[in-house]
Amino acid sequence: MIQISKEILIQDRISLKEGHGGLRFLELRWNGAEAHIYLHGAHILHYQPAEQQPVLWHSEASWFETDKPIRGGIPICWPWFGPHPNDSDQPAHGFARLTEWEPISNSVTDEATCVTLQLPASSCPQRISLQLTLELSDKLLVSLTTANNSGSDFNYSEALHSYFFIQNIHAVKVSGLEGQYYIDKLSHDLSPQKQKGPIEFSAETDRIYINTTHSTTIVDEVFKRSIHISKENSLSTVVWNPWIDKSIRMPDFGTSEFLNMLCVETANCGPNAVALASGETHKMNLQISARNH
Ligand code: BG6
Repeated sequence: MIQISKEILIQDRISLKEGHGGLRFLELRWNGAEAHIYLHGAHILHYQPAEQQPVLWHSEASWFETDKPIRGGIPICWPWFGPHPNDSDQPAHGFARLTEWEPISNSVTDEATCVTLQLPASSCPQRISLQLTLELSDKLLVSLTTANNSGSDFNYSEALHSYFFIQNIHAVKVSGLEGQYYIDKLSHDLSPQKQKGPIEFSAETDRIYINTTHSTTIVDEVFKRSIHISKENSLSTVVWNPWIDKSIRMPDFGTSEFLNMLCVETANCGPNAVALASGETHKMNLQISARNH
C-alpha cells in the first residue's frame, strides 16, 4: 500500500479519507467547492462546485476493488484506449486506472487547491513517467503528463474518460463539435462522418471526434445547467452513452443509469495517438466548469 507523506495533507483543504470499498481518497476543498480523487487509478470520482449539484456521475453498481476499474468520475485511460492493440489478455483502456497512484506534491493558495499524483515507476514502462495534477478553484483543471526518457519513441493513447451527471439524456445536447469529423465505433463504415448541428441522443452512441481541439458544452435543459469542457494538447473527443442493451450487458452499470450520464472524453486516441520522442514530455489539459441557467 502506498504511504502518504504528511506534507500532502493540509488542514481544511486536503484530507485523506476512506471511501467506497475501503479505498482511500484525497478530498480537496476550495471556497465551498469539493473534489475527491481516489488513489486507485488517480480516479477523480466527485466534483461539486459551490452551491451546485455534482458535475460528475458514478454508477451505483460500480466496483470499488483494487483490481477493477471504477465506473464513473474520470477514469484515466493510458497507455492505450479501448482494447489493447494486439493482446486481448490486457485490460481495456490500459492499466493506469487499475493501479494505486502516489500523491507526490500539493499547492494550496487563495486561488486554488492542487495535488499531483504519480503512477509508480514499477507500474510504468521503463523510464516513462505519468503524472496527474488536479487543481480545484471556481473550475476543475486536470493535467495528464507523460514524460519519455526511455531512449526511443513511446507511442501511446490516452483519455480523461469523464462521466458527466445529467438529468435526462433525451433532453441534453452537446454543442461545439458542429462541422467536426468523427469515427462511429458502432458502424461497419469507419470512414469519418461530418457532425451536423449539436449532438443529440436517441440510441447507443460511441464516437471518436478526431483532429479537433474544440471546446464542448453539455446543455442540460431539465437541470438548467451548462457544463463547459475545454482542453489543450488533445486532438480527440470521445462521446459515449451505452443506452439500454449495452447497459444491461455491463455488470457494473445499472439498467436505467444511462439516462443520467454522458461521457465527453478528452483524449488522444485512434488516428491521434501520441508518438513521443525520447527526452520529450506531453501534457494534456482538461478544464471543466459548470453554470446554472
Ligand atoms: C468508451 C468507449 O470510451 O468507453 C466505449 O468508446 C466503451 O467503446 C466505454 O464501451 C467503456 O469502457 P469500459 O472499459 O470502461 O467499460
